[in-house]
Amino acid sequence: MQTSRIVVCKADSLREKQTVKFAFGAGKERKEGFVVALAGNLYAYRNECRHIPMTMDWVENRFLSRDHRHIQCATHGALYEIAGGLCVSGPPTGQHLHALPVSIENGEVVVTIGDGQDQD
Ligand code: FES
Repeated sequence: MQTSRIVVCKADSLREKQTVKFAFGAGKERKEGFVVALAGNLYAYRNECRHIPMTMDWVENRFLSRDHRHIQCATHGALYEIAGGLCVSGPPTGQHLHALPVSIENGEVVVTIGDGQDQD
């Protein structure tokens, strides 16, 4: 897969602990990711639990736990830290979500996909 840039949203539209989903790849290689803002930082992860490789949001774009302190997998309730993606509760405890490089370029939130980031 070649490196690609995905413009996710306008940077000034992303509020604290808001998540925004995006898709990348095509056909059978299509995957999802999401960006989340926390304390002035941006994090981007593949939308794929480390317990079973399935998407984590049963409700579209709902990734955070009720208290908004963690990213939560809807299937078995695994909790991941927003900053860094470490699983702190649930079947994949100790594993990290697949992080993706994210930056702000010209006022837009940009995720870079490539170099095997679409793979395990
Ligand atoms: S699939 Fe996510 S905790 Fe089991």
